[in-house]
Amino acid sequence: MRIRVFDTPKDAGIYAAALVEQIILQTDHAVLGLATGSTVIPLYEQLVRLHRNGLDMSHVRTINLDEYVGLPADHPQSYHNFMRTHLFQHVNIPAFHSYIPDGNAADLEQECARYDEVVRKHPLDMQILGIGVNGHIGFNEPDDLLLSKTHVVTLSEETIRSNARFFECADDVPRQAITLGVQAILQAKRIVLMAFGKEKADAVAKSIQGQVRTDVPASILQLHRDVTFVLDMDSASKLAGYGG
Ligand code: GLP
Repeated sequence: MRIRVFDTPKDAGIYAAALVEQIILQTDHAVLGLATGSTVIPLYEQLVRLHRNGLDMSHVRTINLDEYVGLPADHPQSYHNFMRTHLFQHVNIPAFHSYIPDGNAADLEQECARYDEVVRKHPLDMQILGIGVNGHIGFNEPDDLLLSKTHVVTLSEETIRSNARFFECADDVPRQAITLGVQAILQAKRIVLMAFGKEKADAVAKSIQGQVRTDVPASILQLHRDVTFVLDMDSASKLAGYGG
């Protein structure tokens, strides 16, 4: 496990984008597992910059972690829309190379099975992750058990409260989502988890230095052989040895 602590999210984004570029350049048809949320925006800004400076992404495939259930793809808060706004409309990844779960599918179970098949066909070269304040990855919420396959999840009260900042009010936050399970995440060749801000410090410290526990889903990353935590001073502030 590598831990990199930066002064600002922008610096962290530059570093993470360099890691992604390396994978794109070293791999014939790189498959990137992508995340949404405010944390990964500095990474996408830097990838867009790299693309404008010559990075070809026409052979890249992307597989997103999750999507809300019940939001149409063109809803401002859907993860489809997030990815379009922050990355896809600015780079040359072909639309048919990008996968995001369909939270509006008539048969959600079938959609989950379809999505597992997508990941099976296109093994992830690098998985980008954010982390919830409660330690969730994707939408794998703290629980007595973690599910390995893609599944429909009922969001925790904490996640609904935390994600309400993107909606008009907490009532507008969808109660369910589709998320990749932990198996697909752990099967990625490399994992990069980004976290910024004091409100993530607890989850980060528990994930890196605590026990591996299903009620801290990101702690399962301790079992992976190639994980890089890309942090700022605030999110690293409770890590022993990094000011905590
Ligand atoms: C959401 C996403 C996660 C993301 C997390 C953190 O709930 N499903 O994939 O990592 O929240 O979001 P933010 O980066 O906005 O703090």
